[in-house]
This record gives sequence, structure tokens and C-alpha cells, in this order.
Amino acid sequence: MSQPVKKPDLTETSPMSVNEGDNGTVRPEDTKPVPAAAPKKREGPPLTVADVEARIQESAKGNTNVDTMVGRAVVEQGFITREELDAVLDLHKSGSRVGTPTDSNQMSLLSLLVDNEYITRRQMERIAQQVEADKSGQKIPGYKILGKLGAGAMATVVKARQVSLDRLVAIKLLPPKYTNPQFIERFYAEGRAAAQLNHPNIVQAYDVGKVGDQHYFVMEYVDGRTVYDDITAHKRLGEKDAIDIAIQIASALQHAHEKGLIHRDVKPKNIMITKEGVAKLADMGLARAINDREAAEAEAGKAFGTPYYISPEQVHGKIQIGPPADIYSLGATLYHMVTGVVPFDGKNPSAVMHKHLKEPLNPPDQVNPRLSAGIAEVIEMMMAKSPKDRYQNCKDLILDLKAVREGNPPIIAHKDVAGADLASLAKAEAATAPVEVAALAARSTGGLGSTFAQWPVILIIVLLVISLALNVVLAIRN
Ligand SMILES: Nc1ncnc2c1ncn2[C@@H]1O[C@H](COP(=O)(O)OP(=O)(O)OP(=O)(O)O)[C@@H](O)[C@H]1O
Ligand SMILES: [Mg+2]
Repeated sequence: MSQPVKKPDLTETSPMSVNEGDNGTVRPEDTKPVPAAAPKKREGPPLTVADVEARIQESAKGNTNVDTMVGRAVVEQGFITREELDAVLDLHKSGSRVGTPTDSNQMSLLSLLVDNEYITRRQMERIAQQVEADKSGQKIPGYKILGKLGAGAMATVVKARQVSLDRLVAIKLLPPKYTNPQFIERFYAEGRAAAQLNHPNIVQAYDVGKVGDQHYFVMEYVDGRTVYDDITAHKRLGEKDAIDIAIQIASALQHAHEKGLIHRDVKPKNIMITKEGVAKLADMGLARAINDREAAEAEAGKAFGTPYYISPEQVHGKIQIGPPADIYSLGATLYHMVTGVVPFDGKNPSAVMHKHLKEPLNPPDQVNPRLSAGIAEVIEMMMAKSPKDRYQNCKDLILDLKAVREGNPPIIAHKDVAGADLASLAKAEAATAPVEVAALAARSTGGLGSTFAQWPVILIIVLLVISLALNVVLAIRN
């Protein structure tokens, strides 16, 4: 399978990097807030250079030279720069660096790169994947598929070049199993709605379409990482960074809500961070179509979506859900960002969902004591079980997040706590300081309780007066 190395033709592409963390997705385990994701193991014996070259050859159908495809793919994947590739080829040609001088000119580019550790065997497999994705990309007219970016529960996302505008895009490819006409219709309706949105913190939707039996959704390509990647890499995010992200996503949601669109799947994997640090909400509109009943039925018996961030009203399957549902999910996402753990965990999705409905939230500042009281108050209000106890819109939420970012108490959430049921506050504090709380409650009510709480003092005063009076009487008699 070895071929003589020819200088690859890279004119169609430019150097770029692909989300390094991607290795396909396993669900729902991969949403656990625990150690960095281990590379997904491939079944069967390790691939050899010859295997990979055979796959590439098969995809190319003899139309393109394998070395050209390999050269283009390693640069596109960001494994080496174009300059490095040129240097490898020059060194190879001069015979001064690699291989057995006598036959190195006959080595294929792939063997050359692997044997001399320019790329790993795992990266070699990804090159084969890219070339195969490239092949499938020929099915979408107007787009040239460059490689796989990731995969979720129901779709694969690939990077592509929109030929007419010469721009990079991400394309979500839905598998053909979604055939219910109502679902498909809603998918397009939502795609159109999402395309109406235009906001710097929303991954822009460009197009929806169908080729053969494959539905696809074209969107802005984000050269960056997801918040989920950041949580797995660093365990948790700093409070200020997390608030910055939450403010940006809340402003994206505010824009969507004003246009009548509810995201319904806000979670760390749907928030992307660009290289410049801008947060962008992904899957806007798509989420609503996919999370609906038809899709749930199609997925019957399987874990559908991630239950870690779902609002109680969505667990109840309510059809009419409003902005507070997204605010709850953003609250759960923020909780995960600042504590490093999801708000509710359980042995299966239904156990987790049940906890969203019934279990009181473990306060985030108890999980991570370094958090400010303000952020904890905001998260707790975002994640109130009842939608009416949450922020009613993202404008209010942003107000509080900004206050906390400046080191002040949140205006709305804090007020809410101050005005909250005093009896339950007293009850909570009673566990640690019963006497003080009883006295506080008595003073604040000023009724019978007050008299009751003050009786030891009154008794002492009465006794003092009596003893004083007796002393005076005795003194006079003597
Ligand atoms: N617009 C984009 N630009 C760059 N990469 C993207 C883009 N959209 C998605 N991705 C990548 O593709 C991966 C898969 O996305 P996808 O939306 O299919 O699944 P998910 O959000 O991880 O899970 P789910 O299926 O539950 O939505 C993401 O984790 C991300 O790494
Ligand atoms: Mg997504």
C-alpha cells in the first residue's frame, strides 16, 4: 500500500484546528462532572498504516492520490502546520532525516509521519475518519465536508466549507431514522425560527435541508471548545469566569425569548467558547424540535437527552413552557460550572429527573465554600422548583449576575431571601442557635411569644425588687 511521496496539494484548504477533545460521544455518562474523558477505545486490534491507507483509498475511489489526502487532512486537523509538512517532505526528499535512506523515497506520507512520530496512531485513525466524512460530504451540494467535530445523542456534527461563500460552517447531520412527518415539519419550522435570531452569543443558524433521506442543519462554525470541555479539563470554573459566561448566555436567551423561542436544552455541551472567550449558545431552535414528544417516542426505552439540567416542568412533560425553564437549565449549568458537580445525580436518568422535582438543592456554596453568598443566592433562585419562584425573565437575571460580578449582593434574589418566610428562616437557624432565634422571633412579633421569651429577665428583675424591698424594710426596723 506504500506509495512514493508526492507533494500534497493543499490549495483547497487552509491550516485550522479541530476540537481536540472530541472522540465521539457516549451518553449519558459523558455528562458526568468527573475526570477528564478518557479517549474512547476502538473495538478490535489497532489499525495499521496499511489499514488506514486502504480506507482512504476506498473513500477516494482512486480519484485522488492518498498522500495528497493525508497531507491535506493532517494540516486541516491541526496535527502539524503546513510549514511543518513542507519541512517533513523536504527532509524526506533529501534523505537526511528519516527512514532508511535507500527506501525512504518509496515510503508513503502516512508511514513517514507515523514512523517518525509526527502524528500518533490515534491521530492516524482520525485522518481516516476525516477522509470518510469528506466522502459523505459530497452528498450535500454546496458544502465540502472537512471532518467530524463531534457527535451527540442523535446527530453528528461536521466541519465544512460552504463553497459559494468560502466560509467555514458546522453541519449537524440527523440520521435518517427520524421519519415522523410532524417531527420533520417541526424541525424545519424551528430551523426557520432559529434563522431569524441574530445575536453575538448565539451560534448562527444558516440553513436547513435534506439530501436523500438525510436532514441537515447548517450553522456558524465555532473554533473553540464547549463549557463541558472546560469543566472536564479543569474540574470547575472560577466564579468570575462562570458569571461572565452566564451573563452572555442569559443575554442570548433574552433575545430568543423576546422572539418567542425557548431553547429547552441549555447545558454545558451546548455552550461553546470561542478562542477569544466569547460564549455562544448552540442548538437554538433545534433543541425544541428534538425534545418533543415524537422524538421522545422514537427514542422510547433509551436515555434521551441529558437529565442533569432539565427543568421540573419539562420533567412533567408540560407542553407550554416559558423562559423560566431555560433559566432553570442555565442555573443548573452555572451550578455545574462553579461547583464541578451536577446539582442532582442518580443511578439512572429517571432518578435524576425525580430529584429535580422533589429533592432540595444542595446549596452551591456548601459544595464549594469559596463561592460568594451572592452567586449561591442567584443560582438557588434560578433553580427554584416552581417556575413562578424563579427569575421571570433574563433581564432580571442579568441584573443580579452583574451585581454579583461587581461584588454586591444580588438585587432581586437577595430581596427575595430577605422577604422570605421568616418562620422557615428562624427554623433553619434554630438548629444552630436556638436561644438567639427564639429571642429574635419574640422581639419581631412583640406578642405573647415576646412576653414568654422575656420571662426569665422579668423574673430576675422582680426578685431583685423584692430583695431590695426586704432589705429596705429590714434596715428601717433595725
Ligand atoms: N457550531 C459548532 N461549531 C463547532 N463545533 C460544534 C458546533 N456545534 C456542535 N459542535 C461540536 O459537536 C459536538 C456535538 O454536538 P451535538 O449538538 O450533536 O451534541 P451535544 O450538544 O454534545 O449533545 P446533544 O445531542 O445532547 O445535543 C459538540 O459537543 C461540539 O463539540
Ligand atoms: Mg449540541
